[in-house]
Amino acid sequence: MSYFSEATSAETVNDRIGVATDPRLRQVMTSLVNHLHAFIKDVTLTEAEWETAISFLTRTGQICTDTRQEFILLSDALGVSMLVDAVNNRVPAGATDSTVFGPFHVDGAPELPLGTCISLDGKGEICLYEGRVLDLNGAPIANALVDVWSDNADGFYDVQQPDLQPKWNNRGVFRTGPDGAYAFRGIKPVSYPIPDDGPVGQMLGALGRHPWRPAHMHFRVTAPGHARLITHIFVSGDAYLTSDAVFGVKASLIADFRPVQSPTEQWHAAFNFVLRPTCTTA
Ligand code: BEZ
Ligand code: FE
Repeated sequence: MSYFSEATSAETVNDRIGVATDPRLRQVMTSLVNHLHAFIKDVTLTEAEWETAISFLTRTGQICTDTRQEFILLSDALGVSMLVDAVNNRVPAGATDSTVFGPFHVDGAPELPLGTCISLDGKGEICLYEGRVLDLNGAPIANALVDVWSDNADGFYDVQQPDLQPKWNNRGVFRTGPDGAYAFRGIKPVSYPIPDDGPVGQMLGALGRHPWRPAHMHFRVTAPGHARLITHIFVSGDAYLTSDAVFGVKASLIADFRPVQSPTEQWHAAFNFVLRPTCTTA
């Protein structure tokens, strides 16, 4: 047992952990305390800075609601969400890369016939999205559920504008056929800023960072026996591909959106999803 001192601060705190503590909790908390104390010593954190941090975290909590999760946004903007994704989804060669889930997914979107248009507000340019869901051997996966969501042409998700947008605008679930194929119509998404009217936006401003995400369509692809895939496809050529506010872009997820002459759509995007079996990593 030792009294608290600058030299042994982390050790003193960690020595208090009870003997019966869950081993994983012990490991995580010990490392957290070690890194936190090392950080404070590294920058010689001032008392004013400590107060600023406490105020920032307090405001971050206070702005959270059922539909706004500022702590996840903070994690996203600090690259933490993408790092947690990276260390947990080391996909084998050939499998589709994952990316950040984001705060705008809603469970329970309607399952729709293949080819249905999910844009319900009549805004934006329509794109036909098609491709196949495959396993690592290239075999089609039938009955995979392809859950998709995007912003509207004004750059807002339906849940951000419940009084302006129709319910389930730009959302739907599609089931692959026997050939593993999916197809749906939606808008060619537009780039949009992450919510920046709260503490995270203030942090970005103070750091000289912009809040923009490059245009993308979200996908959650699930099939029995395969690991769930959470990803996006990004629109090639978008101005924010190399400066995504949440670091979500991977080169493998950038798709060509080709202009087409068709009565039903102005764009076409083809993208296959390759799922890894459950419980496999690289
Ligand atoms: C999104 O892509 O929907 C998103 C991801 C992270 C933060 C905000 C939005
Ligand atoms: Fe998004």
